[in-house]
Amino acid sequence: MCGIIGYVGGRDVPSVLLGGLWRLEYRGYDSSGIAVISNSELVVRKVPGKLSELEELIKRKHVSGTIGIGHTRWATHGLPQENNTHPLVDCNEEIALVVNGIIENYLALKDELEAKGHIFRSLTDSEVIVHLIEENRSRGLAEAVKLAVKKLTGNFAFAVISINDRNKLVCARHDAPLICCYNSKEAAVASDISGVISIFDEVIYIPNDSIVVLQKGKCIITNFQGRTIKAPVHQVTIDVQDIDKGRFPHFMLKEIYEQPKVLHSIVSERIAGDGIRLGSELGISDAELKKVSRIVIQACGTSWHAGLIGKYIIEKFARIHTEVDISSEFRYRDAVFDSDTLVMAISQSGETADTIAGLREAKVKFLKALSLVNVLQSSIHRESDGIIEIMAGPEIGVASTKAYTAEIVNLHFLALYLGLLRGFVSRADLAEHLAALEELPGQVEQVIKLDSEIREIAKIFCNSRDFLFLGRGLNYATALEGALKLKEISYINATGYAAGEMKHGPIAMIDNKMPIVCVNPRTSVYEKMLNNIQEAVARKGIPISIVTRGDRRTRGISAYSVSIPECHECVSPVLSVIPLQLLAYHIATLKGLDVDRPRNLAKSVTVE
Ligand code: F6R
Repeated sequence: MCGIIGYVGGRDVPSVLLGGLWRLEYRGYDSSGIAVISNSELVVRKVPGKLSELEELIKRKHVSGTIGIGHTRWATHGLPQENNTHPLVDCNEEIALVVNGIIENYLALKDELEAKGHIFRSLTDSEVIVHLIEENRSRGLAEAVKLAVKKLTGNFAFAVISINDRNKLVCARHDAPLICCYNSKEAAVASDISGVISIFDEVIYIPNDSIVVLQKGKCIITNFQGRTIKAPVHQVTIDVQDIDKGRFPHFMLKEIYEQPKVLHSIVSERIAGDGIRLGSELGISDAELKKVSRIVIQACGTSWHAGLIGKYIIEKFARIHTEVDISSEFRYRDAVFDSDTLVMAISQSGETADTIAGLREAKVKFLKALSLVNVLQSSIHRESDGIIEIMAGPEIGVASTKAYTAEIVNLHFLALYLGLLRGFVSRADLAEHLAALEELPGQVEQVIKLDSEIREIAKIFCNSRDFLFLGRGLNYATALEGALKLKEISYINATGYAAGEMKHGPIAMIDNKMPIVCVNPRTSVYEKMLNNIQEAVARKGIPISIVTRGDRRTRGISAYSVSIPECHECVSPVLSVIPLQLLAYHIATLKGLDVDRPRNLAKSVTVE
């Protein structure tokens, strides 16, 4: 979950590395550092804390050179303190290394290396790599890396430089993302395109289990056995502006506000005349889809919440038994499948370690895997039989917002597509749903206009210690997602619950200080939810309700309410979640918290 970058070329190396690290910072931000080869000497600058502190340090103690590597860390092994901060160096301070991943056998390797006299300075698992490379340094950097990777188990992507091979950036990847770029004047490597976006317009997604030697005008890729591999060059399609905050104070707010635009492009892309187009990379024929008897969705966090909505709508429209599993449970569950089971991973990043492992579990069992993925060419994209592109555009804010609503809308299209194929959705049903989906972006825009109203509610509750979020049916997932958004960026204890379950335990928590966010748009479970709100009111809880415009009954029993437009039940989770995203955002900013860098988190969870 760390961000890595390396550069060789004529630009100011520390500036290139820092620029890249700023854009990779979402991957981890508890410490950072760079190493540059300057006049045949390896110079390392690193600091625990924010990237701005590294920037300050580099301003104070400038270093110049033509090759360097950089790192922004999300700590797994060892506290975020200077000795554990990357770049890590070998005993003689001639080789520097930056790593993203986990080395599972590091303790055994460390014992071996210490017995040979290597001195370890950090508590990280990664440091073994630089000492393994040091062991074979006389054979040249590329060969030493090749010998080192053979000894590693776990997942990793790393870049290394050495004063004895000072024009080369050598990198390796196994089950962790890495890209590289090069032209006649310069070359770079990074965890993802955002690290190098301002410099290159072509990119190579480094194939798994390969080693890359990068120089100006040269890029040699070999597999771990040493055989040369050809990897396609892709055009960089994202723009610097896509990963810039623009006029917004935070990425999270920018991404909340982008939702009408994102949903509009998805709806325009997916509606083809009076039918549905799921994209050119579906990878599974209609005949195969017709045969599917069971769908297992597996995902983590917010994407898992989208999966819960997927289950409701796939079962409703396509009458296919659908299960939703948390990937970290699914991968170890030894689930029962039959040959007509379709496994679906849902992932914004496409790099979530548990979700990738779940996908591989399915492949080992020869099941078809169709994934919903936002980042193209990510591991989940490459390893699935087919994908539906989420089309949310780059999501930088650590708290997922636009990817969530985009996932729901894509699942809606998939459910309708399957329903049509299997004869459970008529042309008239389809027309009704497509009309609801076409109307959705405009309705989302109307909800976003309630921003200042929601901020006023946030002011009242920003010092609350606990929150309860309740919902039913499709909006049970909305309650879970609202609670997750609040706790991850405001650190307030927030519990999401199916409202009907409340009386089986959580009702005991309710007192006259407890804000209870009640998601009750007009749906088939409206009356049931209304009863649950009454039960909360009878225990003196403070309901803050999400209601359909004109709903006087829910408003009447709520202390505060936010009205969303009248809509089809199936799109209600999209409209209901927007006020909850904004509520979480405002509560966190009113508390003075950094919503784009919540403590202990990182955007892309590439470790188990
Ligand atoms: C919460 C959040 C996480 C992610 C989860 C899965 O706001 O962002 O819960 O949803 O880590 O990530 P992806 O979708 O990238 O697999």
